[in-house]
Amino acid sequence: MNKKYRKAIIAGNWKMNLLPSEVKSFAEELRHLLPKTKTCEVVLCAPYTHIPNLRRSLKDSRIYVGAQDLSLHDKGAFTGEISAAMLDDLSVHYVIVGHSERRQYHGETDFSVGDKAVAVLENGMSPIICVGESLEQRERGLTMEYVRYQTLAALSKIPDDKLRHCVIAYEPIWAIGTGKTASAQQAQEVCECIRRIIRERRGARLARSISILYGGSMSGKNALELLSMPDIDGGLIGGASLKPADFAQIIDAVAQVTGE
Ligand code: 13P
Repeated sequence: MNKKYRKAIIAGNWKMNLLPSEVKSFAEELRHLLPKTKTCEVVLCAPYTHIPNLRRSLKDSRIYVGAQDLSLHDKGAFTGEISAAMLDDLSVHYVIVGHSERRQYHGETDFSVGDKAVAVLENGMSPIICVGESLEQRERGLTMEYVRYQTLAALSKIPDDKLRHCVIAYEPIWAIGTGKTASAQQAQEVCECIRRIIRERRGARLARSISILYGGSMSGKNALELLSMPDIDGGLIGGASLKPADFAQIIDAVAQVTGE
């Protein structure tokens, strides 16, 4: 399927790293190193506490600000929670939902992931919906079945006119933070399966327009091979997004793939 119908996206997931006071110098360094690609959307998903500083430091740049989670609820007595409207008010463009670390440590379920994605879309932002199998599921040959289930559950409440604003990230749990990357073929196979599920359920036009990212130990060394695959439209990057030079190298790989 032709990649010209969808956006290339390189999104950093800082997780619980860096300090609010470190954001300005990070942003300055990244802006300096940013390759001159017009076709790649660059996003930094920061902890909530860093977002205002990051927003300010990225003013007039082509880098979008993202968040890493949000509350299921609109407002009210939910101590410690952050709503979609609050993120939108800070000019956040993207919100990660259903990251495996939220599923594993914070009781996130396939159904709360779907509801959170709807809340993001209703507030005019784009969800980056994470799916991916454990090592045990892969070894038992259950990868496709599991990813299919997660994808359908996450998308079930999203109407067609909103679906095109969604991004899916395939993140095999065994590749996250381990230095073990899925091979380009393994990652392509699952990303192609996700696109096929969307095509079967929601039609070819939507399937070809949704960006599907790979995440799991992506680095400057393996990015080019992964991003050259026909169904991998970008990356969701943890560790390598914490160093401006490493992150810029991955963005540069997109420029090489698109021939810019
Ligand atoms: P790493 O790139 O550190 O493996 O993390 C991937 C990830 O979890 C991005 O959301």
